[in-house]
Amino acid sequence: MAMNSTTEARTGANPAGPRHVAIIMDGNGRWAQMRGRPRLLGHHAGAKRVREIVEACPDLGVRYLTIFAFSTENWKRTQAEVAGLMSLFRRYIQREAQDLYRRGVRVRFIGDRIKLDPKLITLMDDLELLTSGNDRVHLTIALNYGGRDEVTRAAKRLAYEIEMGRLTHKDVDAETLAKFLDTRVLPDPDLVIRTSGEARISNFLLWQSAYAEYEFIDTLWPDFTAAEFGRIVHGYAMRDRRFGAVKAPA
Ligand code: FPP
Repeated sequence: MAMNSTTEARTGANPAGPRHVAIIMDGNGRWAQMRGRPRLLGHHAGAKRVREIVEACPDLGVRYLTIFAFSTENWKRTQAEVAGLMSLFRRYIQREAQDLYRRGVRVRFIGDRIKLDPKLITLMDDLELLTSGNDRVHLTIALNYGGRDEVTRAAKRLAYEIEMGRLTHKDVDAETLAKFLDTRVLPDPDLVIRTSGEARISNFLLWQSAYAEYEFIDTLWPDFTAAEFGRIVHGYAMRDRRFGAVKAPA
């Protein structure tokens, strides 16, 4: 059963802080270019930040962290940058797997695997399996992920179920469709952070972020620290979330 906010219908202030934070890790390229270094160096610096932010989650009460590592549109980058990023993902998994496991992190991947290298897919499968018993922090890595692509794939699977006679058009509602999304076992994000000063969502968790709070910050991803993450998470508690409802009188 999906745990998204369509079924939870939570309203009001947020004394507990955000349970699920999603991050668009932007600005690696500019970070490197500002130093006269190749863009890939920025991605490597960005990968180091992932560890720090994951480690900060338990103390901040963030149970679910979802990070945008590679979008369905990122294939348009140069072949060298794409190959460098894919190699970085492989090395990240190989290097971090045991540590993530020991720290109680459950890792999942979302996105379409079809275009990914089989060796990378095996590493992703192995890491998901290795950490499947963990429950301290749920880290979801979006890899070859696009919100429109995800909804399209979900619609296709739903249509197939109807074609097979296992569902009818009367079963199609938001809750049923959400069960076909890559994120079906995750709650919706409460807070989406984007680094590097760009105020757009770039096809990230389009369906799931319908009622998310957004925080756009100027910091480039490789400069993003656990301290800044903490300030944003604490700031979230001041926000008044109504999910389309009217605030109850005091
Ligand atoms: C956007 O910055 C960033 C990416 C496309 C890649 C994100 C990847 C990482 C942070 C690497 C590590 C991730 C994992 C899970 C190991 P950009 O290149 O668009 O920056 P720019 O806008 O300054 O050019």
